[in-house]
Amino acid sequence: MTAQIHYSGDSSDARVFSLSNTSISYLFRVSPEGLLEHMHFGERIEPSTTYPSRARRLHRGCVLEFQDSKYYNLSDVPQEYPVFGTSDNRLPAVHIINGDGNSTQVFRYQGHEIVNDKPGLAGLPSARGGQSLSLLVRLYDEIAEISIELCYTVYDQHDVIARSAKIINQGARRATISRAMSSCLDLPAADYDLLHLKGSWAREMNQDRMAVPKGRFTIESSTGTSGNVHNPFVAIMDQNATEQSGRVFGTAFVYSGNFAISVEQGEFDSVRVTTGINPFNFQWQLDPGESFTTPESLQVFSPSGLNGMSQIWHQFIKHKVSPEQFQGRARPTYLNSWEAAYFDINEDRVLELADRTKSLGLEMLVVDDGWFEGRNDDTTSLGDWYSDSRKFPNGIESVAAKVKQKGLKFGLWYEPEMVNPNSQLYRDHPDWIIGVPKRVSSKGRNQITLDLSRHDVQDYLFERLDSVLSSGHIDYVKWDMNRTMSEIGSFALPTDRQLETPHRYMLGLYKLLDKIVTKHPNVLFENCASGGNRMDLGMLRYMSQTWTSDMSEPIGRLPIVNGASYLFPPSIMASYICPVPSHLNGRQVSLKSRAEVGFFCAARGMSLNAEDVDKDFDGLKHYAQLYKETADDVVNGQFFRVKYSDNEVVWQLNSSDGSTVYLGYFHILSAANLPFRKVRLVNLDTNAQYQLQGSDLAFGGDALTHMGLDMPYVCAMQPDEDDYLAKGDFSSRLFVLKRT
Ligand code: GLA
Repeated sequence: MTAQIHYSGDSSDARVFSLSNTSISYLFRVSPEGLLEHMHFGERIEPSTTYPSRARRLHRGCVLEFQDSKYYNLSDVPQEYPVFGTSDNRLPAVHIINGDGNSTQVFRYQGHEIVNDKPGLAGLPSARGGQSLSLLVRLYDEIAEISIELCYTVYDQHDVIARSAKIINQGARRATISRAMSSCLDLPAADYDLLHLKGSWAREMNQDRMAVPKGRFTIESSTGTSGNVHNPFVAIMDQNATEQSGRVFGTAFVYSGNFAISVEQGEFDSVRVTTGINPFNFQWQLDPGESFTTPESLQVFSPSGLNGMSQIWHQFIKHKVSPEQFQGRARPTYLNSWEAAYFDINEDRVLELADRTKSLGLEMLVVDDGWFEGRNDDTTSLGDWYSDSRKFPNGIESVAAKVKQKGLKFGLWYEPEMVNPNSQLYRDHPDWIIGVPKRVSSKGRNQITLDLSRHDVQDYLFERLDSVLSSGHIDYVKWDMNRTMSEIGSFALPTDRQLETPHRYMLGLYKLLDKIVTKHPNVLFENCASGGNRMDLGMLRYMSQTWTSDMSEPIGRLPIVNGASYLFPPSIMASYICPVPSHLNGRQVSLKSRAEVGFFCAARGMSLNAEDVDKDFDGLKHYAQLYKETADDVVNGQFFRVKYSDNEVVWQLNSSDGSTVYLGYFHILSAANLPFRKVRLVNLDTNAQYQLQGSDLAFGGDALTHMGLDMPYVCAMQPDEDDYLAKGDFSSRLFVLKRT
């Protein structure tokens, strides 16, 4: 075991906690006042060393000094779980209105415990333990009679620190939590950059890098979903960090609802990063004896640039977040009915698409929206999860059985969390929605969110899904969710708990998901929320993959996959070859480029109607075969961003044993007389030779790494040779190199 937790003893001056493995250390100490002072997160430091650096005490003008501690100014002290109102005016980790009606507390060290492995988080998704150690530190405020238990986990094999906090009301009066972050990371004064992922529907996950501003920068959501506007992830790095070098810290939140990640550079230039539930529009009543557990926040550190950080996330997500039963398993290639048929689906069309699926050599047919009672467009029927009796007179289970008889797997679309006002479910239970009394609910795609905080709603949805999945004919479920929350409240909660609704919704959703996936462990679940509107580590704890974006057109998808790859590995991403011209942006892209961009997601398929299939039959068959042959490599391989510019994107994927290297070169707009380009590959064996497939050339790993590989040239006057890309815009080339 290489994970270690040391506590350096009881001498009041040196009570230091050190969590480490062979590459990282996380250090903090208990100050003489009993406060937790952060000391270091980064490269490993021997626990036995004498620490050359700690929070300094000095007199500064115009600053407060903590209570009776002379020169102890908390605004300038890096801390683990800071509060407001006792001389630190930066964003606190926690803010509680106590029984006296004020918000002043001092949480002092009371004790700690070191446990093997990692405790679970009641009712919330969290990364799995295994080869890990955890530290539980108890803090207490004796006036408010509130304790806080901070949990830290360090892993043997992953350079990740997992954190959460539990707030316990030990007193006799109610307390109200208005802010409860999962983690606070105080970085030393320096100039940093930050990178976050921003966007909107069909253009999610666009990377945005900027200097950490003086002041506060917050990404957040208050929509009831983690959202497509900002993903709950931020990287903070040295300003000279690149993809391949430099110190990088990352934080990501294991939660699917409202979140806030704030980066604050204060008056003394240190940078505070807090990650947790969005405090805006949040309040939680904590009655005597009750506790509140925050979701989990993950922190990573890499000394090897953004790609180094991504490798840590990718390995961690594959091994500790993604459901174990599909971990490392090749995903079935598939045909999805959505862009093939939209709502116009019935038994005959399904069987016809199944024949096309089979003849293309794909492995699964997915029936998307439109299969349940009365669902002919998006104005009706969500909630009525019974097969449409006109389209599927024998029930969807019987069609599934017929598809399976053809030797295919069968997948089905659901949007369980939603209801259309025009549905039997809504007519029967108008109070089952997220809504507030006397107000009209705003609609999104003609639908309203069901109130998953309610047990009766959870039970109804479990029964509906379970009854179909229990047929044993469903291999895959696409779990969609196509609107965000508005008029937020629950008809099942008292007035003083209305602002608890969004978090209670998440707890209800997680309970439902847990029940369904536990009962049906062999069903492959795909997470979708109009594409990437809820692509987060909370959902990915239950579901093995995500429909990355409704932007199925490959050039529009390049920034989305590139951005997503900062955090997510290809093993959790799904793609399909879309029709042309694209239904999303009208772009006409060759089959080759559509297939080669999609190549870098582990779940790969097509969404084409019979006519589209017949038009490109041989080409599609070729890519179905390629997808199948490389499925293991993509789900298990290592993905690297090699180049990302406005006009060129290069991605590299090494098979898990490094024997095969795939290099995707994507060239967006053509031009005349362009410069020659070469690309330096990464993570190769510099002593090995690599044979370029489809040619008789072999190159040294050292030459590919240090000189680079010539990229094909874009030229409208080109002869038809291998050295050139296809003429015109939106060209691509997939190189395959085999180590000899
Ligand atoms: C959402 C999804 C799509 C498709 C439709 C069906 O937009 O992201 O992939 O499933 O719903 O209504």
